[in-house]
Amino acid sequence: MKKTYYITTPIYYASGTLHIGHAYTTVAADSIARYKRQRGFDVRFLTGSDEHGQKVERKAADAGVTPKQYVDEVVKKFQDLWKLLDISYDDFIRTTDDRHEVTVQKIFKQLYEQGDIYKSAYTGHYCTPCESFWLERQLKDGCCPDCGRPIEMVEEESYFFRLSKYADRLIAHIKANPDFIQPVSRTNEMLQNFLLPGLEDLCVSRTSFKWGIPVEFDPKHVVYVWVDALSNYISALGYGSDDDSLYQKYWPADLHLVGKEIVRFHTIIWPIMLMALGLPLPKQVFGHGWLIIDGGKMSKSQGKVVDPHTLCGRYGVDAIRYFLLREIPFGSDGNFSNEALIARINTDLANDLGNLLSRTVAMIAKYFDGAIPAPFKRGEEDELIEKLAKDLPSAVDKQMEALHLPDALAEIFKLIGACNKYIDLTAPWTLAKTDEGRERLKTVLYNLAESLRISAILLTPFLTSTPQKIFEQLGTPTESQALDSVAFGGTVAGSLVSKGEALFPRIDVEKELAALALDNGTV
Ligand code: MSP
Repeated sequence: MKKTYYITTPIYYASGTLHIGHAYTTVAADSIARYKRQRGFDVRFLTGSDEHGQKVERKAADAGVTPKQYVDEVVKKFQDLWKLLDISYDDFIRTTDDRHEVTVQKIFKQLYEQGDIYKSAYTGHYCTPCESFWLERQLKDGCCPDCGRPIEMVEEESYFFRLSKYADRLIAHIKANPDFIQPVSRTNEMLQNFLLPGLEDLCVSRTSFKWGIPVEFDPKHVVYVWVDALSNYISALGYGSDDDSLYQKYWPADLHLVGKEIVRFHTIIWPIMLMALGLPLPKQVFGHGWLIIDGGKMSKSQGKVVDPHTLCGRYGVDAIRYFLLREIPFGSDGNFSNEALIARINTDLANDLGNLLSRTVAMIAKYFDGAIPAPFKRGEEDELIEKLAKDLPSAVDKQMEALHLPDALAEIFKLIGACNKYIDLTAPWTLAKTDEGRERLKTVLYNLAESLRISAILLTPFLTSTPQKIFEQLGTPTESQALDSVAFGGTVAGSLVSKGEALFPRIDVEKELAALALDNGTV
């Protein structure tokens, strides 16, 4: 039996359009899911949409449509974007799905019946854009401490969830499981800022608007959106339904990948809900940083958004996936700028990878009639390349096990860079001039083709069409494209190379920046 791996992204708010910052979470999760599949895991990768709440209700009213009509349109766009970005999710959960609503109602009822949810009245602050309740002492200059926008006073009859009852158990769990919240700095933040000062019971229902999942036994209340949304991770597995086989198979989740601003919900409210239900906790919540633009979080309300469709149209999907995964240190914030994007494409993809492939293929075509030669005479330059190529699979694994995605890519590009140097050092054009040199050249060209093949196999989780293009140009047989043939020596001598288009055309920086400036400075 294969080992299972259950990975989730947050479910995205269906109250607006997605920008490249949102795409970051999903592309990262997709690469981890693809990596685990390549390593033989039985992977379940879940994403979806968070469709209830006052924000959606207001937007739909402004647009003159029903909330359901509104979210149907938005969700279609989400799914189109994930298709464009080659996101390999196994399931897409909508919080308006029957399967989800029924489970949320059951969860709420169970918690009420066992006394963990009780009725009272809420008077306090609420940030509608963040769907967050805040205490007076937590506000920043009277505004939401997370997004800085004005908060609203809310005064209504509500149900409350006894978070406080489980606080000590949660603190003990976090301390006993240092991997539960990652990176470790976020563990400290949760303990110092929220858990150790003491938890207040959480308001978990609203009565002042309608667009939500009704509390089954008191339908003038709708379930608080975060309780609704967090439940998606198990409702999508059929928890509480007649067929919970997916739940039995995949829960607890191996990884909830989320942005840093929502770590709080995933490491306090969600684990306490699970504890109260008597269910196991997810193994890890990883809080990644933000894609920053002009010094601030990319966000629609700040008027600072970059549209992933435009970017993919201009530079191609793999270039955008590569930039997101390589440029932003995983767990920290990273800057988006046109200059940084173009530099990454030109340096790593066009110059290093693209040129290496086109030079290798051209030399095999020119000196050996297009057939990859069997290695023959060895030289002192071979050792470094062969060692890097042999060690690469385990170097990539080591980085990926720690979720260091940019470093995993950096390892692959270390080999690619070394291959370009290897060409300069061995000077194939000189070797080709003598019979003895041609014997040495056979090894050089074999090693280049082999390093490219190994790199392409290891790039497969990150870039979705480039590895195939590399295999095609190298004439790599299907059986030598899989991970189990990654060991050095898998290139079959005699395979026929074929020259193809440049993998990543070089971008003329000045012309491109000028074109972008016409387009408002950023795409
Ligand atoms: N609906 C909630 C999640 C509920 S999960 C039970 C939500 N949705 S969201 O649409 O606002 O955000 C979805 C994801 O996109 C989050 O992980 C968030 O951090 C991420 N990002 C949104 N803007 C981002 C950047 N500028 N940079 C990186 N990630 C960003 O929160």
